[in-house]
Amino acid sequence: MKGVLLAGGLGTRLLPMTRVTNKHLLPVYDRPMIYFPLQQLVHAGIRDILVVTGGDHAGDFLKLLRNGHDFGLEHLGYAYQEGEGGIAEALGLAEHFAAGEPIVVILGDNLFQDSLTGPIQRFRDDPHGAMILLKEVHDPERFGVATVEGGRVTRIVEKPTAPESNLAVTGCYLYDHRVFDVVRGLEPSGRGELEITDVNNRYVEWGTLKHHVVTGWWADAGTVPSLHRATGLVAADRGNSVLADFGSKAAG
Ligand code: DAU
Repeated sequence: MKGVLLAGGLGTRLLPMTRVTNKHLLPVYDRPMIYFPLQQLVHAGIRDILVVTGGDHAGDFLKLLRNGHDFGLEHLGYAYQEGEGGIAEALGLAEHFAAGEPIVVILGDNLFQDSLTGPIQRFRDDPHGAMILLKEVHDPERFGVATVEGGRVTRIVEKPTAPESNLAVTGCYLYDHRVFDVVRGLEPSGRGELEITDVNNRYVEWGTLKHHVVTGWWADAGTVPSLHRATGLVAADRGNSVLADFGSKAAG
């Protein structure tokens, strides 16, 4: 299975920091934000990874991550998103890279305490349809929110004003090859983006969306309060989680 790490977008919720750098290069405690999702993919055994980024600072990803050797990879691929047309648009740029294989997609501002090996292996064993990772949160209106009925996700609403549940859709998604056909058929949402929630709802309609509820902490570091929270979680967790083992090697 191949991995796609999405790190485009403007990061406007982190201005003024993002005026001079890309959001995913900002520090979360002891390392750049993008290290966390990248290391999660590597930890789950994903060796073929594409980083999608954009904007004025895309070249800095190459300087930082180079060819991926610091992370135990033989090489690392890059794609450039022109504009900020949404998560699903960025994903669409990975079609050639995926070459018909199932993929795991992770957002560059998402940090997970626990290893993603379990759900990724579950999808690898039956790579048909799609799988999303959910997390119980106290502020679901900030996220895509899933309604689960009879053990299945029956709908997902993007940033609802009146959430039907407290199950946030995290930024880790697994898809079969049909995802690129779905992306091609999308229309921009009210905020002018191709929405990943619309992609996932298509798999709901097809009856092929699986889900997994994560138990450890999860953080989306895309706002000032959530970046602050993520930094505190990582600091407190130092030495105790799956994230602990890569600081020294990748820092060198
Ligand atoms: O963090 C989980 C949430 O991420 C989900 O619950 C939501 O359903 C999903 O829409 C998304 O919401 P956000 O509003 O947090 O998305 P944001 O615009 O912050 O983008 C998240 C990441 O996606 C960002 O760190 C990089 C990537 N991205 C985003 C856009 C808009 C791109 O690569 N290109 C883009 O054009």
